[in-house]
Amino acid sequence: MRILLTAAFVAVSLISAAGAVADEPTVIKFSHVVAENTPKGLMAQRFQELVAEKTDAEIEVEVYPNSQLFGDDKVLEAMLLGDVQMAAPALSKFSRYTDVLALYDLPFLFEDLDAVDRFQQSEEGQAMLNAVADKGLIGLGYLHNGMKQLSASKPLRVPEDAEGLKFRIMSSDVLEAQFEVLNAAPLKKPFSEVFTLLQTKAIDGQENTWSNIYSKKFFEVQPYITESNHGLLDYMVVTSKEFWSRLTDEQRTEVKAALDEALAYGNQIARDKAIEDKEKIAESGRTEIIELTPEQRAQWVEAMRPVWRQFEDDIGAERIEAAYRSND
Ligand code: LMR
Repeated sequence: MRILLTAAFVAVSLISAAGAVADEPTVIKFSHVVAENTPKGLMAQRFQELVAEKTDAEIEVEVYPNSQLFGDDKVLEAMLLGDVQMAAPALSKFSRYTDVLALYDLPFLFEDLDAVDRFQQSEEGQAMLNAVADKGLIGLGYLHNGMKQLSASKPLRVPEDAEGLKFRIMSSDVLEAQFEVLNAAPLKKPFSEVFTLLQTKAIDGQENTWSNIYSKKFFEVQPYITESNHGLLDYMVVTSKEFWSRLTDEQRTEVKAALDEALAYGNQIARDKAIEDKEKIAESGRTEIIELTPEQRAQWVEAMRPVWRQFEDDIGAERIEAAYRSND
């Protein structure tokens, strides 16, 4: 009798253990480096909610903001190792994997986010989501942050004002060249280090969007911000081929639908924050916002444009031409 009872207990335990395994949700760890109250942070939270809704909690998104899990310089390696399933690094951070996405770093290429949208939605722009496919990564969509501004320890009105200054940049050779043509000193550093580098005056300036300058408090340690709108900070949401292929067709469809909806939401937030966060910075009185005259702006364009030629072969002259035409 005792033996029979024990056998029944073991059988029941095995069945419930199997049940528990079957009910275990598939987890998508989504790692990013910015604050939660940013286009990327809010997009990731929306994505988390939508995935739970659409998959009946069969898939669970865990969001790790503020470089808590991985910095952007490590996250793609971690993804290929299976330690994280999704991320949205700035397009500038794919340079170790492809040359073509460097297009988005070219200074003064896009006049505004409408032009960026037109290009990204074109056949050429969509094809660029496959730029890292041969490295085992799948581009699932673009997300905006916005146009970049220049912040510094001194007022930057004309390109000569940047001479000799140290600027933090993302890990992109185009961005490096962009500061070298100004005779400034660019330093590739992770996003998580920027505030301290500025605060301790180890660097003199940096380039970023209103949203990042506000949410990471760079404006509190930079007395001047030049509204240059000289470059773009956009993201590509990526996953690994290995993870994506483990989902069922239905799960892929649901996750992609959730992502598309979250991206549309995040892109609207990007547009709103470019206005709101700039206003909050202005209201803080901690920094002076410098507006360029059309003549001054033309000088920055003239100084930085030669960078295009330097990277024409790597990126593709036709691709650059197509992107530039999206301003029309
Ligand atoms: C940066 O490093 O400045 C940005 O890529 C941070 C981000 O993800 O917006």
